[in-house]
Amino acid sequence: MKTQICIIGGGPSGLMLSQLLHLKGIESIVLERCSREYVLGRIRAGVLEQGFAKLMREAQCGERMDQEGEIHEGFYIAHDNKLDRVDLFKHSGGSSVIVYGQTELTRDLYEARDRMNGEVLHNVDDVVLHDLTREAPYVTCKYNDENIQIDCDYIIGADGFHGVSRKSIPADVLREYERVYPFGWLGILSETKPVSPELIYSSHERGFALCSLRSQVLSRYYIQVPLSDSVDDWSDEAFWNELKRRLPVEVAVKLETGSSIEKSIAPLRSYVVEPMSYGKLFLAGDAAHIVPPTGAKGLNSAASDIYYLYHALLDHYQNDDDSGLDNYSAKALARIWKAQRFSWWMTSILHRFPENSSYDQKLQQIEIEYLFSSDKALGSLAENYVGLPYGG
Ligand code: APR
Ligand code: PHB
Repeated sequence: MKTQICIIGGGPSGLMLSQLLHLKGIESIVLERCSREYVLGRIRAGVLEQGFAKLMREAQCGERMDQEGEIHEGFYIAHDNKLDRVDLFKHSGGSSVIVYGQTELTRDLYEARDRMNGEVLHNVDDVVLHDLTREAPYVTCKYNDENIQIDCDYIIGADGFHGVSRKSIPADVLREYERVYPFGWLGILSETKPVSPELIYSSHERGFALCSLRSQVLSRYYIQVPLSDSVDDWSDEAFWNELKRRLPVEVAVKLETGSSIEKSIAPLRSYVVEPMSYGKLFLAGDAAHIVPPTGAKGLNSAASDIYYLYHALLDHYQNDDDSGLDNYSAKALARIWKAQRFSWWMTSILHRFPENSSYDQKLQQIEIEYLFSSDKALGSLAENYVGLPYGG
């Protein structure tokens, strides 16, 4: 097989790039290790920056997002049994976020690829990348029990943290930066009315909690748990009781409970690899960087990678200009590190760290008090939460 761009990974990053390139007449083939049902069965986050939403519209698959997604102009931080609101609209100079599940937008991207007969090969095995530093790189894999080779101009590694692409770059070329947090998030999805019309991030002595939503009849809640916990340790009832303990009384009394339709524990990690390109291989999304979900930057960081890569490939094919591709890694990383800082900061002020001294805990409390005493501090939080500009 032959194409212009071979994309490894059929998650939101890979699909978005394939769709955008298609609309500009640039061919691509997406190789996905799992079935479509499996990819769409993964429950992930759901807070979109305006930059992401704009890309979805440019990719001609923003209709359902704009119809069913909720525009949120603020969120709450709960602390000391009270709620304080972060007015994103006021403190970001008029911006907001869209609450729309990652599962739904991935479904929209798949359906857009289908409408345009996009090539997405599912259940591929043994993906191997070849000749990354040569003129003509290629990918081999097993598909429908057949060994196939895909010749291409460029390879995009959008295969997530556990993918093969990053591992195809020589170890002596890569620099890895990592921080693993000593706790995870136990999350549930429940067909219950959300407890609040806007998200609530709760800082509590028993640990962090988050009240989020997918719609007015589908709620998403998280509590911080030790990494040693397993889902079996937590009945739905135990979850609801612990969540109530970590919310201000005025919120806890309103909490509608029910049986969970999904329950899982996600470890928290910050991770970045540099550089994000090697020869004809370009990494995007979770393949190159991971953030703890506290700042809702995982998907949005993937989107800025795709924005820079899309424009760099356009410049290559339309203007014979490779400066975008040459600068891709530096440009993407510049925005990624700011998202890393914000996600680390949100995580460090809102969670209970077992090793923290009483002095550290006091500082966490003062961070939140300072935040709500300073428009400048709220301005910094708001501009990061709604998403820093992509830049030219
Ligand atoms: N070959 C083919 N496909 C692979 C391989 C492989 N060797 N390894 C992994 N994949 C696929 C996975 O099955 C997955 O569907 O690559 C896809 C990567 O998708 P994501 O992990 O969703 O990564 P990305 O598209 O970058 O999206 C980032 O996902 O995890 C969230 O918080 C994260 O929101 C962020 C978003
Ligand atoms: C979610 O809705 O799953 C969600 C929202 C905000 C976050 C993290 C997760 O910061």
